[in-house]
Amino acid sequence: MTTLDAAQSGTFAIGGDLTVNRLGFGAMRITGKGIWGPPEDPEEAKATLRRLPELNVNFIDTAESYGPYVSEELIGEVLAPYAKGSIVATKSGLTRHGPDIWPQLGRPEFLRQGAIQSLRRLKVERIDLWQLHRIDGKVPAREQFETIAQLQKDGIIRHAGLSEVSVEEIKEASKYFKVTTVQNMYNLVSRKAEAVLDYCEANGIGFIPWRPIDGGNLESTSAEFKAIMDKHNASASQLALAWMLKRSPVMLPIPGTGKVKHLEENVAAASIQLSDEEFKTLDRIGKTA
Ligand SMILES: NC(=O)c1ccc[n+]([C@@H]2O[C@H](COP(=O)([O-])OP(=O)(O)OC[C@H]3O[C@@H](n4cnc5c(N)ncnc54)[C@H](OP(=O)(O)O)[C@@H]3O)[C@@H](O)[C@H]2O)c1
Repeated sequence: MTTLDAAQSGTFAIGGDLTVNRLGFGAMRITGKGIWGPPEDPEEAKATLRRLPELNVNFIDTAESYGPYVSEELIGEVLAPYAKGSIVATKSGLTRHGPDIWPQLGRPEFLRQGAIQSLRRLKVERIDLWQLHRIDGKVPAREQFETIAQLQKDGIIRHAGLSEVSVEEIKEASKYFKVTTVQNMYNLVSRKAEAVLDYCEANGIGFIPWRPIDGGNLESTSAEFKAIMDKHNASASQLALAWMLKRSPVMLPIPGTGKVKHLEENVAAASIQLSDEEFKTLDRIGKTA
């Protein structure tokens, strides 16, 4: 029988001291179409959030730009005060001008404002993990990294991470603050971030793959894939999550949904144990998909 318990995915200590169950939750989908405005079904979105602690999902990823503000506000409304050991990671560095429009803004005063306002919406005194959503090419990277270091010194954020970065950028940022997580797009069929993932693993940096189930679009692509699905009585998305968890001990997948049923399906993937052979087969199929 499949267990619904994110603890089955094993743990990772973010920054060496914040231990979370590796299978987390992406809170971008509890917003409206185009990640703009409130969700179509606010009660279902709230029920999804309420189900997280029951399933031992204690790592939640959000951003001020999701909605904007909607995702953080719902999390604060439904989950604060947070269950012991629950970590909410947020981000700043993007502005919103409409559905699906995400201009970058890395000016120090905007990043600082973002972190301070996230405190209020998430109802916390310090943000456990704050991530720079994008390094803004229009602002010197040094200024953005110094701002992060200052936010840490001021006790506004505890740990800091980056998103959509190269190994070189991680190394450069590490001169200013300890990079504890990196969030890049990565899933079974989108593998551009392999070198960044390997670097993270070698350096104890948590790797947070965004779009981990390819937006819910994964399907069986071959008889071999289908045979593994049948053996585990699992969907393609569930196999993709199980593959990811086995790929690296620093992997923290954050499948996103605004639906309780989908959340439960995603958490069920934590209890799928792939054999080494199955892992290799999925790896090969994914690379050539
Ligand atoms: N750093 C960045 O630049 C960045 C960019 C994008 C996303 N993110 C983060 O990464 C998280 C995950 O990415 P994502 O949400 O774009 O992609 P994803 O997790 O790969 O897929 C989410 C999509 O799949 C659907 N879905 C989820 N579970 C499902 C299931 N069991 N069966 C069928 N469909 C399912 C969801 O719709 P329903 O809501 O209908 O379930 C949603 O449309 C986000 O929530 C966000 O926190 C970060």
